[in-house]
Amino acid sequence: MKKNNKIYVNPISVSRRKKMFPPPSKLSNAKSLENKLREFGLDISLGQRLKGGVVSQVYEARLKNKKVIVKHTEDLTPFDPTEIHIHRFGHNVDSVILKKLNKHRADLVPEVLYHFADITTTVMEDVREYGFTLYQNKLLQGKVVFNSAEAISRETAKMEQILCKIGRVKVNESAEESIYERGLELRLAYPNNQSQFKYIEKEFTGGKKCLVAPDNHPKNIFVNNHGAVKFIDFGRSCYADQRYMFPNFLAHILIFGLAGYYSLKDVKKYFTIAIDSYNKIKKISDEKIFC
Ligand SMILES: Nc1ncnc2c1ncn2[C@@H]1O[C@H](COP(=O)(O)OP(=O)(O)OP(=O)(O)O)[C@@H](O)[C@H]1O
Ligand SMILES: [Mg+2]
Repeated sequence: MKKNNKIYVNPISVSRRKKMFPPPSKLSNAKSLENKLREFGLDISLGQRLKGGVVSQVYEARLKNKKVIVKHTEDLTPFDPTEIHIHRFGHNVDSVILKKLNKHRADLVPEVLYHFADITTTVMEDVREYGFTLYQNKLLQGKVVFNSAEAISRETAKMEQILCKIGRVKVNESAEESIYERGLELRLAYPNNQSQFKYIEKEFTGGKKCLVAPDNHPKNIFVNNHGAVKFIDFGRSCYADQRYMFPNFLAHILIFGLAGYYSLKDVKKYFTIAIDSYNKIKKISDEKIFC
């Protein structure tokens, strides 16, 4: 629903009419996608589909002799009336932002080699070929690498600054949609009192707006042994308050600690290093919001 230039989301349908969603493209299996990319003139072979890629299909691939990644996105259609529909065109937001970030800081993201917007498919560098490891894999092995705490926090702060100055990007999601979905657990935790959610929603959607990458978490961050960091997966970015981004990342570190992958003492040490590092670039201005 559009009102006062704002988009309000009511994902629970009161209509009895069956909702219609676009049909899947014919590229949702690897072979047809590979054939299509070949039609576009690429000498490419698709390999294994990678784990992860909940929204998209992400494949290892070989482009001539180079190992690359192919990411293809279909619509994510709701499996029940409370779920949201994520349009495949979010894919193109990801590639546009990757390209823009690459222009500002080539080392911060993988290079996009080809972006076919019509078929929501992108061929990009496989950062693992350059010594990078998915940060989540390190955490799952119980490795809380404190030098990564320093590096990821510093680079997150720098990336936030770049996201504020890369110019307007046509995004696929509003701040309201983003916080509604991501705040659902908070709403469910206090079913009789939505005041905490309302407070966060107001801050997230109402304050100074910049491009926010709400998926800046360990499954979308790569690190190497020399303190370098690369970020991926910007498709669900929106214009909102960036103060969400860094605590959202740290919350994941806490969750892995609570799940027993490392000690809570290590989480505390991690937080101290991370906050100190972030503060050197961008000061955490409001501790209540941060917490
Ligand atoms: N450039 C890359 N180099 C190496 N691995 C990559 C690259 N891009 C993506 N991957 C791998 O594929 C996984 C899924 O990619 P991505 O996060 O872009 O897709 P997604 O559908 O948005 O995923 P999700 O919903 O799980 O966040 C990543 O977690 C990572 O393991
Ligand atoms: Mg991802």
